[in-house]
Amino acid sequence: MNTTASTIFFGEDGFTALDQYLSNNEPSKTFVLVDENTSICIPAFAEKLTALEADFEILEIPSGEESKSLELVHQLWLTLLEHGADRNALLINLGGGVVGDIGGFVASTYKRGIPFIQVPTSLLAMVDASVGGKTGINIGGLKNQVGTFSQPDMVVVDASFLASLPEEEWASGHGEMIKHALLTGTDWPQVLSWTANDDLQEEIKRSVAMKAAVVESDFKESGLRKILNLGHTFGHAWESLMHSKGNGISHGRAVIQGLHVALVLSQQQGLQAELANRYPWVNVSTEDFEVLWHHQLADKKNENGEVQFVLLERLGAPTFGNPVSIETWSAALLWLNQSADVR
Ligand SMILES: NC(=O)c1ccc[n+]([C@@H]2O[C@H](COP(=O)([O-])OP(=O)(O)OC[C@H]3O[C@@H](n4cnc5c(N)ncnc54)[C@H](O)[C@@H]3O)[C@@H](O)[C@H]2O)c1
Repeated sequence: MNTTASTIFFGEDGFTALDQYLSNNEPSKTFVLVDENTSICIPAFAEKLTALEADFEILEIPSGEESKSLELVHQLWLTLLEHGADRNALLINLGGGVVGDIGGFVASTYKRGIPFIQVPTSLLAMVDASVGGKTGINIGGLKNQVGTFSQPDMVVVDASFLASLPEEEWASGHGEMIKHALLTGTDWPQVLSWTANDDLQEEIKRSVAMKAAVVESDFKESGLRKILNLGHTFGHAWESLMHSKGNGISHGRAVIQGLHVALVLSQQQGLQAELANRYPWVNVSTEDFEVLWHHQLADKKNENGEVQFVLLERLGAPTFGNPVSIETWSAALLWLNQSADVR
């Protein structure tokens, strides 16, 4: 599967392609970036690659969003320097979205850019973060404020890495797959019924293809790519609110909450009820409405000082740039609270 200047491979094909890449390119040194949890994936990863030099260097960072920091980027740049990494060195990011985002940023800036490869190990990173060429870190408590648009040389998506993924993290990726199903109208509502025990290699491939097609047509996010923000206007606001209350939730869970809001604003109560059967709406206190609205206003994807939503005309038919007033939005939240109480 081709995306903008990059290629995505699945399952065993991915390892064969990566092996070939290593033989053809002969990196001067190969670094594998992991976090403290995804290091568990190293043996299975290395075992499948005959062309991986035995002396590849493992760089391990702490897990979690806090690792997407300038301090850690600085440390990784210095580590690469200390190991004499030149422009022919290769960085393989073996991990979730955090490893992919910071690793991609480090690689795209070190010596003005060295090649990197994404090997996602979380479901969210497989279907979302590793596709699209966005890298980034957080500053000033705000997410993804500094970063680059840089394509990896290759993405290898292998569902077998999901075996060690915690259930809550699986649900986070599932949220993005549900979003893709709503945007395309494909496999809805089967997507809703998937569980962590299912072998989803083929479904992941379809979900990736959908995102890759959208990214291909609009790499720098000037138009169509905005549809991928379905559920994210409220989702990001909810994520920020929960984090500020010390009640961190995963990105995908926040997106699911945002999908409820987008579906009600789209007058798609039928789809919203189906979603609620799998992932119920979490009631929002009216006391939090104001701060949530302000978080939404601060969203960098807004234009003209309006809060804009991606909505669905119907299943598989998204529209973007829809301004929504605070009155309409508040009414949608109240409706969701009431409908959840009735269930
Ligand atoms: N670049 C993009 O286009 C893009 C898109 C969406 C999200 N993101 C970013 O991705 C991040 C979220 O990604 P995520 O949900 O993968 O977060 P993550 O990288 O923090 O992974 C979630 C947790 O699962 C663990 N984990 C991952 N794979 C594992 C495995 N196979 N076995 C055991 N544990 C495993 C990680 O150590 C971590 O604790 C956010 O920072 C978000 O901003 C980027």
